[in-house]
Amino acid sequence: MSEISVLQKHRAGYRPKLPSIFVKNGPRLRAVETGEPGPKHEIIDGAFPKTAAFKAVVFEPDQKRQYKPLNVGVIFSGGQAPGGHNVLAGLFDSLTAINPQSRLYGFTGGSSGLVDNKYQLLTSDLIDEYRNTGGFDLIRTGRTKLDKEEQFVKVAQNCRDLGITGLVRVGGDDSNTNACMLAEYFLKNEAEINVAGCPKTIDGDLKNEQIEISFGFDTATKVYTELLGNILRDCNSAQKYWHFVRVMGRSASHIALECALQCHPNLTIISEEVAAKAYSLKQIVEQIASLIKDRSGEKMNFGVVVVPEGLIEFIPEIKTLITELNDILSGHHDYFNSLPTTKDKHQFLNSKLSPASAQAYGQLPDELQWELLVDRDPHGNVQVSKIETEKLLIDMVGDLLREWKAEGKYNGKYAAQNHFFGYEGRCAAPSNFDADYAYSLGYTAGALLAAEKTGYIAMVRNLMKPSTEWEPGGQPLAGMMTVERRRGKDVPVIKKALVELEGKPFKVFAQQRDKWMMSTDYLYPGPIQYFGPEEVCDRTTLTLVLEQGQDILDALSTVGVLKTSDFFSRLSPDSLTRLLGMVQHLEVRPGQVVIRRGEIGQCFYVVMEGELEVLGGDDLSIVATLKKGDPFGEIALLADVPRTATVAAKTDGDLIFINNYDFKEFLAEHKELEQQLSALSQVRLAELKEKGN
Ligand code: FBP
Repeated sequence: MSEISVLQKHRAGYRPKLPSIFVKNGPRLRAVETGEPGPKHEIIDGAFPKTAAFKAVVFEPDQKRQYKPLNVGVIFSGGQAPGGHNVLAGLFDSLTAINPQSRLYGFTGGSSGLVDNKYQLLTSDLIDEYRNTGGFDLIRTGRTKLDKEEQFVKVAQNCRDLGITGLVRVGGDDSNTNACMLAEYFLKNEAEINVAGCPKTIDGDLKNEQIEISFGFDTATKVYTELLGNILRDCNSAQKYWHFVRVMGRSASHIALECALQCHPNLTIISEEVAAKAYSLKQIVEQIASLIKDRSGEKMNFGVVVVPEGLIEFIPEIKTLITELNDILSGHHDYFNSLPTTKDKHQFLNSKLSPASAQAYGQLPDELQWELLVDRDPHGNVQVSKIETEKLLIDMVGDLLREWKAEGKYNGKYAAQNHFFGYEGRCAAPSNFDADYAYSLGYTAGALLAAEKTGYIAMVRNLMKPSTEWEPGGQPLAGMMTVERRRGKDVPVIKKALVELEGKPFKVFAQQRDKWMMSTDYLYPGPIQYFGPEEVCDRTTLTLVLEQGQDILDALSTVGVLKTSDFFSRLSPDSLTRLLGMVQHLEVRPGQVVIRRGEIGQCFYVVMEGELEVLGGDDLSIVATLKKGDPFGEIALLADVPRTATVAAKTDGDLIFINNYDFKEFLAEHKELEQQLSALSQVRLAELKEKGN
């Protein structure tokens, strides 16, 4: 690179953070097995007889021993994701820390480079040039599938020629499935080449209990939420357009969900919900049109709809259609291609499709029909990034609104703009999170190879904690497999993690979305920040916070409630932190008795959410209602008497509680709070007495 931008110059000096086990010991570690192998499955065990029973590994310091130089090859597979160059840097740094004579070969253009022996030696000068930069351009990428024996034979030969004993495949679910096949092949043929995977994809769908997220999701969603925020502001400034924004994510809607949580657009479709509720295309169109009609009733002929890229494949009628098309096209491939005209092809398909699928197919615009037939990637997936769902919806919604207008049901203005946020986010300079995480993953892959492990994907856990507490290790690739039907066959593949409708990110979204529909409650996250306060530069996605950081969220909302309470608002931040370390949460349901008159008091409570009732001596009359921030249960503890009243939940609620011992210890250090609570207990006792209890 002859010239680089000012930002790039400054960013080159950024030193990614590493888990402390690496900081203290470097990558020369012992990989120790932990946990159990994945559940047994005939097809998976049959395909991966050597690796199916592997267990996860974590690292421990090793006794000092000599490590020989390691020659390692690396490839990128599939779509670009911010942080790729830092995987190379982390891998390079770990290999050279293992032994300075180690060599890293970058095979160029993805798997095809590995098969065709196209590579370049990655020197420290080259690596330095690309540290903390976006893109995959140092060695490029490709989507060639690597799953055939003749390819494996060539790969083994190319590796032998270069003295390579380790390969790292940086990719998504399909690429890591192929990495597992390669590891299995090398073991079976005693090739003495170990294979490690690395979780990459902006889609955020390569994750499980061990792999908390793939690298790239953080940065890509930050780019999309910046863009979406800008559109929302434009929309609210002009108040004359409906913007339909399609966001990437081939299958899962994680990106769309993160955009919704960060920006509050008026409507976000989540494909997984569409599938679960079996919405038809017609119902989706009706939902959007109804919102447009309702907002126009409030003189708001504007708004923003976010559509996930993979939507079309999740609409049940179209999903079934695609499955049937896949089977027909794979079973009659040559015959279908030999048919001379489009009409012949359609006739043939109609004779093979089920009546429902033939009808679904017939309803689609010509262009979409064609896309479902021809566009498949090498893994057999429909190339949804080429299907312009947002335009399809704009047209269909427009048609329906026109009908409603003619029937006198709608009288608003509808002018729509379409956007697709996809390629814009995949090569951005990695956020601090992705720069650190990708570097740590590369370093971990090097440590796995140094520990002579094969068939593992690099994992770094505990991502919501400071990086010093991150836990690196390896998850067996075969253990991540599930069986899916692909091109008419049942095959083992790494399970794609879809949005969980019972998961916290979706639930938080679902709780708020009705409000966002009719309000104009937009948020503008702004661009990625690389320099400045950690709070701004190191923040990660809400998806990760909600999935992994439950304790932190609970703590934050608890602090929020305590800060507004008459009793706790004057506690210093240190005292609040100490109190948080002592409390536990209790969820309550309507009617649930929390404390009962006459019992010995064990705990002190504060209401975080919901309402509770203090009941009189008959356990029926209501003496008082307790709300958010109200303490209770103090009388028995302060006066050492049995409970003086029964308290039961009126609504669903959340309480924090602290045991008697900690409570007294805390009050001994916080005299002002003790006095306030004593005064409260006197008032409450008087109230009970006054009401005849
Ligand atoms: P990966 O799963 O390979 O990481 O790709 C992600 C992705 O960006 C999808 O979101 C998108 O559908 C697809 O790649 C686009 O592929 P291409 O780059 O081949 O157009």
